[in-house]
Amino acid sequence: MKKKIFIIIGVLLCLLLFSLFFFLFFKDENKTDNNDLSYEERFKNKGYSDDEIATILDKVSKDDYDFVLETGYDKSLIDILNSSDYNEDNFSNYIEYYMKNKKSNINDIITIINSGYDLMNYPASSLLASLVKEKYYINDNVARYLDYGNSHNVDSKKIIAMVNSKADLGFYSNSYDSNLNNNNLVLVNKFYHLKEDYTPSDLVTLGGQYNKGANSKMRKEAADAFMKMVDAAKLDNIILYNMSAFRSYDYQVNLYDRYIKRDGKAAADKYSARPGYSEHQSGLCSDLNNISDSFDGTDEAIWLRDNAYKYGFILRFPKGKEDITGYKYEPWHYRYVGVDAAKIIYEDDITLEEYYAYYIENTSE
Ligand code: DAL
Ligand code: ZN
Repeated sequence: MKKKIFIIIGVLLCLLLFSLFFFLFFKDENKTDNNDLSYEERFKNKGYSDDEIATILDKVSKDDYDFVLETGYDKSLIDILNSSDYNEDNFSNYIEYYMKNKKSNINDIITIINSGYDLMNYPASSLLASLVKEKYYINDNVARYLDYGNSHNVDSKKIIAMVNSKADLGFYSNSYDSNLNNNNLVLVNKFYHLKEDYTPSDLVTLGGQYNKGANSKMRKEAADAFMKMVDAAKLDNIILYNMSAFRSYDYQVNLYDRYIKRDGKAAADKYSARPGYSEHQSGLCSDLNNISDSFDGTDEAIWLRDNAYKYGFILRFPKGKEDITGYKYEPWHYRYVGVDAAKIIYEDDITLEEYYAYYIENTSE
């Protein structure tokens, strides 16, 4: 009797275990089948066509399927997926940004997201899309780029140059100490100034054929590069010499005062630096040969324009960049920055202001 009861209990337990296993197994099978089918069906229920569903399955990672469902039917989503610039890794960012900018151009949305900058809270626009594609774009400056771009009819390269150089803020509107730790790349302009008592400690005198001016001192490295440049020019039958290199703060006081008396402050500011704001005080620049507009277009000016960068010098106040540098074109004024920076500045056709903002001051990614 007892044995019978054990057998019955044993059989019942086996049945129970078997049915439990059977239930679990089929439950899982069903789940898998339903899920595979259900995503397609659910996309269909949202209104996507078979072709569109095929595109979704092909281009969206499985992890983002629910995101598609939450979005509901939207033809633009398919347009995003079909763009040649579509990047699967950015899918959720495209959708999030698109949802905030439904009326914007899809290509602009894709360009802005693909840039990788955090711009989720800035409205999508063709201006923003063209800005992020620029080499010298700095994300910290985006609000000022947009302000400047929306109020000036200029291209995005110019917008970036104006803002990166701080020229959009107005010359002499802010004043900072020049960072002398930047050595050859120290910036002295209408925003960055040198202290009254600053004189470089390594000034040397340019002599002989290298100089014809009263201000003949330059910092050692710059002077060596200057002489190398003059020697190279001579081999091309171009005679170069310094007319004005280092000028002290006090010297600039007299010079600037004289110009104000002669032409008035507004005019003087266009060609002369205020004391402390002249890079002649840095000992890193030289006015060569002929400090006059008539120097432009001479063989010497052309040689310098085309070759100075090879020796680490840049044309500091170029034609067409007056609103970036704050000074009229000076074909005679060359600034030593070292060969690496000079090459970039020359090849990318930028000013020292733009170079400095992007390569030295820029801390954003
Ligand atoms: N002429 C240049 C801008 C200076 O005065 O430093
Ligand atoms: Zn000069």
